[in-house]
Amino acid sequence: MASSVARRTAIVTGSARGIGKAIALRLARDGYSVCINDIPSSQSAIDATVSEITAQIPAAKDRVLGIPADVSSSGAVASLVKRTSEKLGPLTLMIANAGISQVKPLLNVTDDDIKKVMAVNFNGVFNCYKAAAAQMISQGDPQPTAGVGVYKILGAASIVSHKPFPSMGIYSASKWAVRGLTQAMAMEMARHKITVNAYAPGIVDTNMWEAIDGGLGELEGRKKGDSLKLYSDRFIALGRTSRAEDVAGLVGGFLASRDSDYVTGQTMDKGVRLYDPWAVAGRADTPIPVQPVATHRHYKSRGYQDSATLSPSPAQYSARKNARQQSPP
Ligand SMILES: NC(=O)c1ccc[n+]([C@@H]2O[C@H](COP(=O)([O-])OP(=O)(O)OC[C@H]3O[C@@H](n4cnc5c(N)ncnc54)[C@H](O)[C@@H]3O)[C@@H](O)[C@H]2O)c1
Repeated sequence: MASSVARRTAIVTGSARGIGKAIALRLARDGYSVCINDIPSSQSAIDATVSEITAQIPAAKDRVLGIPADVSSSGAVASLVKRTSEKLGPLTLMIANAGISQVKPLLNVTDDDIKKVMAVNFNGVFNCYKAAAAQMISQGDPQPTAGVGVYKILGAASIVSHKPFPSMGIYSASKWAVRGLTQAMAMEMARHKITVNAYAPGIVDTNMWEAIDGGLGELEGRKKGDSLKLYSDRFIALGRTSRAEDVAGLVGGFLASRDSDYVTGQTMDKGVRLYDPWAVAGRADTPIPVQPVATHRHYKSRGYQDSATLSPSPAQYSARKNARQQSPP
């Protein structure tokens, strides 16, 4: 008889690299059978990921496979789900991780820009949620004796699904939509013993943020790497850029485990945001809207005392505040 652990099967979309790959590795290590998915043009990266995971975890040799599919196509996703369950066994976990970024001020956004982002980030997640739920329902009740208390569906939202980043308005809206869809899906799927949650990474050092760093740098006049550092230092409470493995701990660890069986409809943050980027991006001369004492301390601890290009130094801040008090409008 198959062991309880061997009967847990997951698909991770967009897992040929980055966060998806780290999640897939974590799942394989924890005993899941895993399908590595990515776009068809990434076939070689899919194969390399399968090889890398099975090299690291020899016991996973027969339970990791790669299937290319573009998640923006509902037909391709239906086929991905069908093939995975035929080859690896009943689907117990779907992780709709694939996503693309876009850095563009809203006034420059075209119809095509919107279509492109929504096709992957929203339609792609919806296609995965729907096809996985249909498959899970067709399998009958989950088997607690086989280590599956509920079926689980997870989607990639983002820190911007709660508050957007300027110049990433359409990306932010697409992730905001994932958060709404996740709640709605959780409500409709509860009676089928399927939980639906999303994860909301902060700033993760992957190819995606390398592209975002380039885009923001071009728009806001910073050199390569500086936007990543600035945004991580200034806006993330834990004060560092996160790694794909940090997200894998939440997603492949907690949300994929039985510890989260009674969690549904949630969008879980990684790296709580401290400040609003508009203070930097849109209004470089505007003080960050927090108590000055906290601001000064934060500046000092992060080495931004003299940051004319970023925001006022404490001295500038006090001088402006005094000037305002002396000559009210
Ligand atoms: N990196 C971050 O800081 C961050 C923050 C918040 C949310 N996220 C989200 O996490 C997810 C993973 O991000 P990442 O940083 O690993 O990005 P990444 O660009 O490094 O990897 C994304 C993967 O998805 C694949 N993909 C793109 N379109 C696809 C499609 N149509 N079908 C199948 N696969 C497709 C890409 O080929 C790539 O391998 C994304 O949804 C992203 O929006 C990332």
